[in-house]
Amino acid sequence: MPLLTATAVTKKFGGLTAVNNLDFEIEQGSIASLIGPNGAGKTTFFNCIAGFYQIEAGQIVFDGQPIQRLRRDQIAHLGISRTYQNIRLFANMTAMENILVGQHYHLRSSWIGAVLGTKGVREDEGRAHREARRLLRFVGLQNKGDLLASNLPYGDQRRLEVARALANKPRLLLLDEPTAGMNPAESQQMTEFIRHLRDELGTTILLIEHEMRVVMGISEKITVLHYGQKIAEGTPIQIQTDPLVIEAYLGRGSAGTAGHEATAIPAVEATQGGASAGPTPASA
Ligand SMILES: Nc1ncnc2c1ncn2[C@@H]1O[C@H](COP(=O)(O)OP(=O)(O)OP(=O)(O)O)[C@@H](O)[C@H]1O
Ligand SMILES: [Mg+2]
Repeated sequence: MPLLTATAVTKKFGGLTAVNNLDFEIEQGSIASLIGPNGAGKTTFFNCIAGFYQIEAGQIVFDGQPIQRLRRDQIAHLGISRTYQNIRLFANMTAMENILVGQHYHLRSSWIGAVLGTKGVREDEGRAHREARRLLRFVGLQNKGDLLASNLPYGDQRRLEVARALANKPRLLLLDEPTAGMNPAESQQMTEFIRHLRDELGTTILLIEHEMRVVMGISEKITVLHYGQKIAEGTPIQIQTDPLVIEAYLGRGSAGTAGHEATAIPAVEATQGGASAGPTPASA
């Protein structure tokens, strides 16, 4: 059964149609990827799902409920979490504090209680800290909870972003280029981690990814966007041999586009490095 179904979704920026009449669905408990050349509309589609953008047309249904008119906090509360293409951690907070911020939606007590320091609040805080420690352990940062986010190595920052997204206890996790800027070993680790996440927690995962080794190795379904439209969808094997996909990638002359990742299909030898993100986290 699909956990999320998007029907004829269109998002425009002025005269530019960034997402064009897109139909998309993701099965409960699956790992799927969204790929496509730079500017294809991948991040924009994430922003539409997560309520950061209002869509011009179409419908997005999550777990049976239309969400396209909901605010981003309401959507987060329903169980959709996301990470950002450019890391958005609170640079001057510790790893632990970054996760506590992410738990915000699941704390029951009111801000009045927080001000007065009532018993319910103290219990909530204890629970929150225990849960945050568990998440840090889950992403392998158990010894780094007290370090400032800005002092973490890049790969750890990416993992912390995932931990923060998990603090919301999502049923659907949207990962925007989780391996961008990672070296091959880190990238491999992240791939295993994503699979572990799904297997352990049952989280449904949709990722945007340029690194073809990751995409082909982990995805049960791949959807290819080009100029905002879906040009192909299928299993890794189907996508690697799809003439439209090959043309979309090769047609953009990756070798000549300085600063962009040299993504190649069907080559699984895609070079390292994403489009984005230096090592410094931006505060949200
Ligand atoms: N807030 C915005 N305002 C105006 N145009 C935008 C905005 N966000 C995205 N765009 C444009 O919409 C198109 C799709 O952008 P988007 O960021 O979704 O692409 P993408 O597939 O994520 O690309 P990349 O792989 O480079 O991250 C691009 O032409 C981009 O310039
Ligand atoms: Mg993007």
